[in-house]
Amino acid sequence: VRADLVIRNARQLITCAGPAPFAGPRQRELQVIPNGTIASEAGLIVFAGPDAEWRHVAGPATGIVIDAAGRTVLPGFVDPHTHAVYAGDRRDEARRRLAGASYAAIAAEGGGILSTVAATRAASDDQLFEASRRRLDEMLRCGSTTIEIKSGYGLDLDTELRLLRLIRRLDLNHPLDIVPTFMGAHEVPPESRSARSAYVETIVERMIPAVAREGLAEWCDVFCEAGVFTPDEARTILLAGQRAGLRSRIHADELASSGGSRVAADVRARSADHLIFATSDDIQVLAGAGVVATLLPIAAFYLKLGRYGPARALIDAGVPVALATDLNPGGGFSPSMPFAMTLACFAMGMTLEEALVASTINAAYAVGREAAVGSLEPGKQMDVLVVRDDPMDLLRVGAEAIELVIKRGSVVVERPGDS
Ligand code: NIG
Ligand code: FE
Repeated sequence: VRADLVIRNARQLITCAGPAPFAGPRQRELQVIPNGTIASEAGLIVFAGPDAEWRHVAGPATGIVIDAAGRTVLPGFVDPHTHAVYAGDRRDEARRRLAGASYAAIAAEGGGILSTVAATRAASDDQLFEASRRRLDEMLRCGSTTIEIKSGYGLDLDTELRLLRLIRRLDLNHPLDIVPTFMGAHEVPPESRSARSAYVETIVERMIPAVAREGLAEWCDVFCEAGVFTPDEARTILLAGQRAGLRSRIHADELASSGGSRVAADVRARSADHLIFATSDDIQVLAGAGVVATLLPIAAFYLKLGRYGPARALIDAGVPVALATDLNPGGGFSPSMPFAMTLACFAMGMTLEEALVASTINAAYAVGREAAVGSLEPGKQMDVLVVRDDPMDLLRVGAEAIELVIKRGSVVVERPGDS
């Protein structure tokens, strides 16, 4: 077997191999190879298995060889829900939340998403590109190697298209792989407040066709919540997206129980996200429809909601669970998948194994990239993290346990280890 990159002798090689998604008891089955070696050629994995086996099949050593003795090697994280392209910031709102104001109250006063929409519309392409690129660098340093990004801070045809073109430009100019989502239904724009149905019509009749014509998105997302889009509106928009070739995902039951989970099941969305207020009936409905639950504990934490998505009940009901950061200027204050995993483990009752599956193969499945990334198997991309010691170290927030981030066979982040 020819290889231009080999990582040898990991204490544990965590592959997450197997058919996606991992649901129920399988959500804990990481597939760990002790003394493992992984090899790639031209960015694609050609071998993942015991080092003893590699010694038999290895071709002449020509490329880079990394000694991973004592380390854990695992798939790069996939972050399946971000709003990383925006201008301005809302640190002032975070300060107000610290003083006791709620996210909903701040949004009702014209803060929230609409204040970012104003800043984003006013920004130039280059300003947006630079600000977003820095956020992507942060995510990469935290171990994400594929991320989803939504539009949704434009809310008019021109700005939404501009944001999706910027997402494409970022994908082409940054080591991260980016999965693009159209989210014109993130909020009702200020100029349409008295004409809501006309805005839904604009999304369906003008925005979705234009996005599809230019091939700018793979997914369509809607914020289904009281005061934002109703379940009926969400259904209409998501089905229009499907007719144009955009697959469905949805923000559901984030701030209250609002019917979003049912919409997800009705339209056969790939993923229902947040679910903080999903009921046990909602959970059964999601399980029956094969929808992935993407949980975003970072948002729940920084919004001070005092509760989290029902991870345990979802897993027990057989719903595959994924994790994401929800990076955004409101509650998505952290770019770190390891921080999302930490909250999942220490505030939501998930095990480390479940959180790792949720951040790799299930997250890849949540964005439809399960054939290319999310697990370490021959034919998939060589997107790999080398972690000092044990994967439990990922949960030591601030300890920088990730020594190497490798994207398509290239080292893109390198932190000096201490041995
Ligand atoms: O996922 N819920 C809607 N969207 C984001 C918040 C975006 C914002 O506040 O700017 C979310 O939490
Ligand atoms: Fe979101």
